[in-house]
Amino acid sequence: MKKIKVKLRERGYQIIIQDKILGKAGLLIRKLNIGNHAFIITNPTVKKIYANKLKLSLSKQGIDSKIKVVADSEKSKSIPVAVSLIKDITVYDKNKKVFIVALGGGVIGDLAGFLASIYKRGIPYVQIPTTLLSQIDSSIGGKTAIDLKEAKNLIGAFYQPWLIISDVACLNTLAKREIRSGLAEAIKYGIIKDRRLFNYIQKYYQQLINLKTGYLETLISRCSKIKAEIVQKDEKEKKQIRTILNFGHTIGHAIEAASRYRHYNHGEAIAIGMVCAAEISWRLKLISWPTFIKIEKAILRLGLPTKIKQVSFKKILNAYYRDKKFLGKRNRFVLITKIGQTTIRTDIPLPIIKSAILTRF
Ligand code: NAD
Ligand code: GLY
Repeated sequence: MKKIKVKLRERGYQIIIQDKILGKAGLLIRKLNIGNHAFIITNPTVKKIYANKLKLSLSKQGIDSKIKVVADSEKSKSIPVAVSLIKDITVYDKNKKVFIVALGGGVIGDLAGFLASIYKRGIPYVQIPTTLLSQIDSSIGGKTAIDLKEAKNLIGAFYQPWLIISDVACLNTLAKREIRSGLAEAIKYGIIKDRRLFNYIQKYYQQLINLKTGYLETLISRCSKIKAEIVQKDEKEKKQIRTILNFGHTIGHAIEAASRYRHYNHGEAIAIGMVCAAEISWRLKLISWPTFIKIEKAILRLGLPTKIKQVSFKKILNAYYRDKKFLGKRNRFVLITKIGQTTIRTDIPLPIIKSAILTRF
C-alpha cells in the first residue's frame, strides 16, 4: 500500500494506492467519520463490475448506500444531469448525514465532486477512481466541474475530496485505449516536471500497457505525488504553479470540444495538444528540434494520436477562443524549455498557434 498526503491549509486528505483495495473501502471511509449514508454516483459500465463490492464493503461498516447511475459519457457532465442528481440526493437525504462517493473515471469524479460542492453548500465526498487517468490526475486536487456546450469545465468549483482510494486492480477491466489515455497524462507529468518519469514511461511502456501491477503502482504513486505537491503549493491556481498541469490542454480541450467529445477521449486530445504545445515551444526557440521530435516520438510510442482527423481546423479554432485559460484577450500557454521544465507565456502570435495546429492535419 502506498499512501500520499495532500497537505492543504484548510483540510488535508490521503491518496491510498493499492492492488485489490476496493473491498476495504468501507473500512477506510468509516474512519473518516463523515456519516452513515453514501450516495454513490457511477455509470452502467463501472456499476456492473464494481458497485456491489463497494456496497457490501460499506454495509459491513454499517454504512447504508444508494447507487445512482448516469450515462457513460462526457455528456453526463451537464446541467440537466447535475440537476436531476441533486433532486435524487435530496430525496435520499431525509434525516440523514449524506456523503457522496464517486465510483468511476474522470467524468464521474468531476460531476460527483461538483455536486458535493454545491449541495447544502458542500458535503463530504470520496473519490474511488477506476481509470488510470482519474487515478493519476482528475481525482486529485479538487477541480470539479460540468461542461457547457461552448466549452469544457465552464461551471465548477475547487472542492477537495475527503479521501482518494485508487485500486490498481480496477485497471484490469479497462480498455487498452483508456490505459493509453491515462498514459498521456502520465507522460505529461514527465514532460513538465520529471525527466526520469518521462524515461521510465518510455522504458517500461510494455509492462505498463500490459498492466504489470508493480510498474503501475510505481507510476500511479509517482504521478499522484507530483500532482499532490503542485496542488499543495497552489491549490486554487493563483500562483501560476498549478497552471503547468494544463500543458497540452489549451489545444487539447479545443479538439475535444470541437469534436463534441466523440472522436477523441481526453488523453488522446491532450496527446495532440502536447505535441502542439511542444511545437510552439520549438517555434519560439525555447526547445531544440531534436527535443521536439523526442516528445512527439514518445507520445506516438504510447499508441496515442499526434494527428487530427475528423475535426475541422475552423471548429478547433472557434473552441480555442472560448478556452477559459485566456486572460481577457491575451492567450496563455504552458510551454517547455526542456523535458522536465516549463515556462508560461502569454500573447503567443496567432500565426504560430495556427501553424502548430495545422501541422497536425
Ligand atoms: P471516463 O470517466 O469517461 O472513463 C473512460 C471510460 O472508461 C468510460 O467508458 C468508463 O465507463 C470506463 N471505465 C471506467 N472505469 C472502468 C473500469 N475500471 N473498467 C472498465 N471500464 C471503465 O474518462 P476519464 O479518462 O477517466 O476522465 C476524463 C474526464 O476527466 C474528462 O471529463 C476530463 O475533463 C476530466 N479530467 C478532469 C481533471 C481534473 O483535474 N478534475 C483532470 C483531467 C481530466
Ligand atoms: N488537471 C489540471 C489540474 O488539476 O489543475
